[in-house]
Amino acid sequence: MNDVLPGDISAWQRLEQLARTIFTVYGYDEVRVPIVEHTELFKRSIGEYTDIVEKEMYTFDDVGGDSLTLRPEATAGIARAVISNGLLRGARHKLWCSGPMFRHERPQQGRYRQFHQIDAEAVGFAGPDIDVELIALTARLWRALGLTRLRLVLNSLGTLEARARYREVLVDYFRVHEGALDEDSRRRLGGNPLRILDSKNPQLRALIEAAPLLSDYLDEASRAHFAALCTALDGIGVTYTVNPRLVRGLDYYSRTVFEWVSDELGAQDAVCSGGRYDGLIAQLGAESTPAIGFALGVERCVALMRLAGSVPDAPAPELYIVASGERAERAAPQVAEALRDALPGRGVQLNLGGGNFKTQFRRADRSGARLALILGDDELDRGVAAVKPLRREGGQIDCSLDLLAGRIASLLDQEPAGSGAAGDFGRA
Ligand code: HAM
Repeated sequence: MNDVLPGDISAWQRLEQLARTIFTVYGYDEVRVPIVEHTELFKRSIGEYTDIVEKEMYTFDDVGGDSLTLRPEATAGIARAVISNGLLRGARHKLWCSGPMFRHERPQQGRYRQFHQIDAEAVGFAGPDIDVELIALTARLWRALGLTRLRLVLNSLGTLEARARYREVLVDYFRVHEGALDEDSRRRLGGNPLRILDSKNPQLRALIEAAPLLSDYLDEASRAHFAALCTALDGIGVTYTVNPRLVRGLDYYSRTVFEWVSDELGAQDAVCSGGRYDGLIAQLGAESTPAIGFALGVERCVALMRLAGSVPDAPAPELYIVASGERAERAAPQVAEALRDALPGRGVQLNLGGGNFKTQFRRADRSGARLALILGDDELDRGVAAVKPLRREGGQIDCSLDLLAGRIASLLDQEPAGSGAAGDFGRA
């Protein structure tokens, strides 16, 4: 579980801000759902035999004796929310949310126990057009973030019935080779045999390669759905590869599944993953409603932004107020507040804790501000304050206190950007 410190925050904010903008452009509404849910919800939706439910959940009994779990992902909570708030009734919803998720995994580079997702869910849409839209939306986000090296991998798992048929074939196949399986895979054979296909054990590679393919067992409607998705992606210029072994680690999927992967992240290469879960809402007891969504891993995305050099500098103030003299120090908060009123959105930072001129100027310089405003007792007596550029050579100029805000605004418009990128980031 990591702290996100001020030095890292601008990348997070840029990602969050661009995602929010893009969701708005595509017509997705933000929702905020609880971080804890009843444990049963995750068991029923993610699946009893998944790694997440078997060994990664933070589960506890509350004082009332209810078993609760810190959410390991957002889809189950959003499905629960649309059901329990009566939002279904044939209506369709395009939703997104973001926040921390919790999985007790073995920590390594890119894999954490508290991590963050930006998650989208479209509920009530059956056709492949929404699959296309969600993928187009993510592709747009990568472009906006300057991430050019992500690859899209697709597969179709078919309907739940087709998957059940395939499951039997797969179990028969692996039973014949049971002796060659490792302990993990033998365990999965009983509960979730599709997950054997995901095994990273190199000794199983040949066996997995030779296993029957899910694509050979797809139902006609799923095949047509997948073909339409592929054609539409071709039409909008999103390239992809089809990987018939992509099965995903959560049980609720049917038909389309996809992952955006990177070859720059080592073992934890999935940056954004998702798929259809047409059966989940009915399985949770509500009217049968098709749905699809994805979640992107914020930490992994931020790591890629860093590699791509698309992390903005931390925002710097635009103006730093230096005050020297008893009366000037007393007047400074008032001047600062008046400027913050008059220049909304501009960073106006006031020197705190006194200090001589040299100390205050050092702080002003370190703050990255473009201009220093100097308040002194003598200047106050004359009804003026001095403004000095900090990012270029240049003397200070006196400005009348009455006209200060307008003068500073026009000076800031002429000044080069400060050491932080508050300007272009803040107003992008
Ligand atoms: P997931 O594949 O388990 O899917 O996670 C989605 C993304 O979250 C991954 O691609 C990865 O970037 C990130 N992620 C997962 N686990 C960790 C971890 N331990 N540390 C850091 N990042 C991680 C889901 O969660 C589904 N709910 C996605 C979905 C939404 N499907 C339909 N709707």
